[in-house]
Amino acid sequence: MITTRHVLPFFLLPASFASVDLGWHPPKKTWINQLDKAVNGSGTNGFVFNTSELPPGTKYGAYNWCNMPHVRSQEYVRANSEYQLEYVEVIHRHHKRTPYASNTFPRESYPWECSDEGLFYFGEPLNPAGNTSAKTYWSVYTSETNPFAPAGFNGTCVQPQITREGLDDSWQHGKDLYGVYHGLLGFLPEGINDKVTYRVTNNVITSQVAGMLVEGMFKPSKTVPLRIQPTSLDSLEPAYSCPASLKLYNSYGVGGSAANWTAHLTAAQPLFNTLDAISGVPKDSTDWHKSFDHYYDNLSARQCHSKPLPCSISDTSKCVTQAQADTVYRLGQYEYSFIYRDSPQSLQAAVGSYGVFIAELAQNIRDCISGKSSIIYRHNVAHDGSVSRLLSILQVDVMVWVGMGSEVVFEIYSKKVYDSKRYIRILWGGQILTSSNPSLGKVDMLDVDVFLAYLDGLTGTKASKVVAFCQS
Ligand SMILES: *[C@@H]1O[C@H](CO)[C@@H](O)[C@H](O)[C@H]1NC(C)=O
Ligand SMILES: *[C@@H]1O[C@H](CO)[C@@H](O)[C@H](O)[C@H]1NC(C)=O
Ligand SMILES: *[C@@H]1O[C@H](CO)[C@@H](O)[C@H](O)[C@H]1NC(C)=O
Ligand SMILES: *[C@@H]1O[C@H](CO)[C@@H](O)[C@H](O)[C@H]1NC(C)=O
Ligand SMILES: *[C@@H]1O[C@H](CO)[C@@H](O)[C@H](O)[C@H]1NC(C)=O
Ligand SMILES: *[C@@H]1O[C@H](CO)[C@@H](O)[C@H](O)[C@H]1NC(C)=O
Repeated sequence: MITTRHVLPFFLLPASFASVDLGWHPPKKTWINQLDKAVNGSGTNGFVFNTSELPPGTKYGAYNWCNMPHVRSQEYVRANSEYQLEYVEVIHRHHKRTPYASNTFPRESYPWECSDEGLFYFGEPLNPAGNTSAKTYWSVYTSETNPFAPAGFNGTCVQPQITREGLDDSWQHGKDLYGVYHGLLGFLPEGINDKVTYRVTNNVITSQVAGMLVEGMFKPSKTVPLRIQPTSLDSLEPAYSCPASLKLYNSYGVGGSAANWTAHLTAAQPLFNTLDAISGVPKDSTDWHKSFDHYYDNLSARQCHSKPLPCSISDTSKCVTQAQADTVYRLGQYEYSFIYRDSPQSLQAAVGSYGVFIAELAQNIRDCISGKSSIIYRHNVAHDGSVSRLLSILQVDVMVWVGMGSEVVFEIYSKKVYDSKRYIRILWGGQILTSSNPSLGKVDMLDVDVFLAYLDGLTGTKASKVVAFCQS
């Protein structure tokens, strides 16, 4: 049921909240952001890395790198009945995929097949419709005549592409969201219409997810546009140029030489040595040793697809052990927390590189409140670099490396008894997000003016502060 929305005259909107705290506040101390626990701990503290399904007996909502928790009707907590949902904006990371070629070892000991799916790629006349296109798809092959070896895995996958299981996870993700926002709440229409929009990035894997997700939601009978900004200014990926942010990240994190960043790399040197000996990654490869990113992605992509941990090509008795993989996973969590939350510079770095999306989000919320836009649901399919920066700006109290399908939902409510205010609830992994910033706190029916003042304070009107910082 969609009832009439209250339209607030523009002049009633408070200009700003001078009292909003725009400062950085550290995250909670957990096993994730303590060096000794990352380096010398064991296991993964219940975090799952080897299946899209949670192990039996595990409560939904637990961290699963292969398929992170999202909003579903089974767990969804309805707002108190005095509130009425007005607008929803969803952003989530794409679902599980093959590794990027840059994360693959110089030589791999087994191939990776993707011939159980097609990546459909074609253009077709629109507006007015004309000749139609056949449903043609990419089929990856190599020839015996072509002397160049493939980078990374042999086989029939593009590196990266969403795998067949990742496509199914995407479909289920859409079905679950529809189950809540249509089935449970009657907020979304039965069939897709122009009140609903989808957005993707310039990396094709987000389009692979979107197609499955939209089908899981609406089963549309007609074509569906996926909104996309040109690469040079794409705020969702993000891909716009912000040299100052990059410089700041590099100064305190990956590539930097600050002692508190390099401490874990130094402590993990014996692990690097073992992994290099097995993978054949050269010891002097900066890319593989400036962070655990590549080993993490390399090992977790295999494990999410029930593939064995890799063994040495030259000595097949030498394989990466589960304990070593688990240490890589702990160190990866530690790095993400350090880069996006623990470092006091993380907030400014994220505002620079993700502030444009934040300003767009604020505008979307305003346009809904003012009645300027009739869109009630926006859905963004993005990357770990997108969702991490967003969580960095929201100052989530416990940061993790955002896994496949990681989701943040912004819900805007009015009160049924008209009080001219709007309220925001933020769901992270299907549960209410808690921010370390006291102005946000537990974001459960927070006055939306406070939230907008926080975003505006960081990014400026139309992201003006972002532009100024990026060019500084
Ligand atoms: C890990 O344990 C070793 C051996 O007990 C110790 O020397 C080292 O300082 C510990 N590392 C950290 C980061 O706590
Ligand atoms: C996944 O990992 C967990 C924890 O390491 C382990 O108990 C479980 O047996 C693994 N499952 C599979 C399918 O390998
Ligand atoms: C792991 O790294 C190797 C070496 O670069 C590469 O060939 C392989 O494809 C990677 N695997 C994954 C799953 O990233
Ligand atoms: C990939 O193919 C090349 C050329 O056929 C072969 O030399 C190599 O061993 C193969 N690697 C894997 C991992 O199958
Ligand atoms: C299909 O393309 C042909 C060749 O350009 C053109 O003559 C024809 O009008 C097109 N058909 C439609 C339905 O647009
Ligand atoms: C790392 O050290 C720098 C320089 O001493 C300091 O400014 C920064 O706050 C430290 N970062 C963390 C996460 O402790």
